[in-house]
Formats: sequence, structure tokens, C-alpha cells
Amino acid sequence: MSHYQKPPELYDGLRLHQNENTGGCSPKVLAALGALRPDQIGFYPPYAAATEAVAHYLGVAQEQVTLANGLDEGIMALAVAYLRASIGGPQLEAIVPEPAFEIFRFDTAVAGGKLVQVVPRAGFALPLVEGLAAVTPRTRVVFLTNPNNPTGVGMPLDAIRTIARRVPAGAVVFVDEAYAEFAGESFIPELEAFANVIVGRTFSKAFGLAGLRIGCLVGAPDTMYPIRQAIPVYSVNIAAVAAVQAALGDLDYLRRYLAEVAESKQLLYAACDRLGLTYFPSRSNFVLVCAGDRIDALVKGAFDRGVYLRDRSTEPGCAGCLRIATGVVEHTRRAVAVMEEVLCAAR
Ligand SMILES: Cc1ncc(COP(=O)(O)O)c(C=O)c1O
Repeated sequence: MSHYQKPPELYDGLRLHQNENTGGCSPKVLAALGALRPDQIGFYPPYAAATEAVAHYLGVAQEQVTLANGLDEGIMALAVAYLRASIGGPQLEAIVPEPAFEIFRFDTAVAGGKLVQVVPRAGFALPLVEGLAAVTPRTRVVFLTNPNNPTGVGMPLDAIRTIARRVPAGAVVFVDEAYAEFAGESFIPELEAFANVIVGRTFSKAFGLAGLRIGCLVGAPDTMYPIRQAIPVYSVNIAAVAAVQAALGDLDYLRRYLAEVAESKQLLYAACDRLGLTYFPSRSNFVLVCAGDRIDALVKGAFDRGVYLRDRSTEPGCAGCLRIATGVVEHTRRAVAVMEEVLCAAR
């Protein structure tokens, strides 16, 4: 198993390669951070108020929410809790419909689980039939992302229901909703009826808090119990605790960003049409663009001009594809101008 290759630390240009909010966080978050007192930083952080704010935003009870140091930590804890085999027991299996958020593969390996990859379908619709065929008595996790990363393609909520009904007792279906704000759709209202589904959310993307590291898992307390055991007791720091409450207190800021994302996607689609690039209509804040044999020239040319795009061509089903964040409109305009310059120069 190869190890996760962290993207290089590029902070001197336009970062469109990690699906972040390049406009940053709400000014109310900065004010809340500035208002932190020395004693708050001196003490281990309290979580009740932040958990309450998150639960209110998501429309669930506090007991259903577990905060984590980024959703990444929640996913690792879930993998450890559900995929670690008992001594002498069989290797437990994680099903991953591809292409997928690559962290699922790495966390499965860290937990000692067996990765069961399901090959992509044309157009990246969820391979439901193939996914169900991959279920065995040893399945313990099905990793889904809605809308998906790196494709931006959504999946029908009914497919999630079907999978949740078909996995064995003791297994969980994980629905990663890192980009749910952009799609305006969530499985969370269904959780009452599906105790074996855990939803993951993050404040890194729509809320622009990636640098502070805060996300959460949402689900039935009993299903969550072993995951909570795998999360260090004080893993979310006081800055993130203050920031998430301030961010949730400024939903106008979120709405403005969502409007920019919608406009940016249209700009990028139009540019792709002009440049003869195909793309997958996205429900997220990024777009997967297929540049075919022009991918290297495009990614490198943009890099040389200080615009960072993510080459996804080695991901299953993604040959020739790159991923571009579509957030702040001004940033998208810059990216489009650079793409046009690079591809015209390469002609
Ligand atoms: C699908 C998906 N899940 C989780 C994460 C990680 O979120 P966080 O920044 O909260 O760790 C990302 C970040 O790119 C993602 O794309």
C-alpha cells in the first residue's frame, strides 16, 4: 500500500487544488479569535456550547454530534473503530466506490482493514449494483461521499438507504458530506430511521475554517460510541471551538460564498466549452475537468503562473482529469484567464 502523498505546501499563489474557501473565513470568526482570553487558552476546552451550535445548525440532538479535529480525524477514528480486526479474527472489509476521497484507502490500511474498491461507472454515477455485490459478512464500513470528491457528482439518497438496508449487522455506512452545503442536500434528516449510518461534516470548506481543523460526525449515539473512544479527548482546540460558533452565527457569509460558487461554476463551464475541455457538472465547490493529453501542459502551465490545480489523472476512472476549486468569482476569473493563456500557448 502506498502512503498518502500530502499536496506540496504551496501558499504563494492561488490555491485552487484543495477545495478550500479561498475567500477565507467570516470576519466574525476573526473577531471571536481575537476575543479569546488568556485563561481560555490556559484551560482544556469546553465543548458543550460548540456542540449545541453545531447540533442546532444540523437540526439534530447534541447526543448525535461528535466534534473532531477536522473531518479527517473523524474518518480515521471511524476506520479504527470499525475496521480493526479482533486478535485471530478475520480481516474486516471497507467498500469504497471509486473514484473516492483517497483518505478512505489510507485510513482503511492504517486500521488493518481490507480495501474493496468498486470500479467507477461512466459519468461517475454511484455504482450501486456493483457496490451491493461487494457486500460480504465481513463488510464493516461502506465509504460514500455525497457530493463526491473528486467528481462533484451527487448520489441519490435512495441509493444510500438501499445500501444501509443491505450491509450486515455491525457494519456502518459512512456518508461524507464535506460538500453538502453546496448541494443543499443531506442524509441527516434520515438518521432517525437509519441507526447504522454515520454522516461526516466539515467546517473547512463552505465556512472557510480549514486552517483551524474542525468537523464532526453525526449519528446514533450507540453507533458513534466506539468512534468516540478512538478520538483523543481534547482533540478540538479552543480556537476551533470559538470559531465554529462565530461561523455558525454568520450564515449570511455562508450564503454569499454559496452564490459565488454557483457563479464560478458557470464561468468555468463556459470556459471549458470555449477551450474544448469536457467537465462533469458539479454539485460542489470544485469541478473535475477532463483535459485529456493536454493535462500536463495545463497543470504545469498554470503552476508556473501561480495558479495551483489538482492533477487527479491517476485516480480510478480519472485519466486526463484535473480538479479546480470554483469559489470566489474573482479567483475563478483569474484561473480561467490562465487556462486560456496556457492552452492557447500550447497549441
Ligand atoms: C470528501 C472529504 N472528506 C473530508 C475532508 C476533510 O475535511 P477536514 O478538513 O474537515 O479534515 C475532505 C477535504 O478535502 C474531503 O474532500
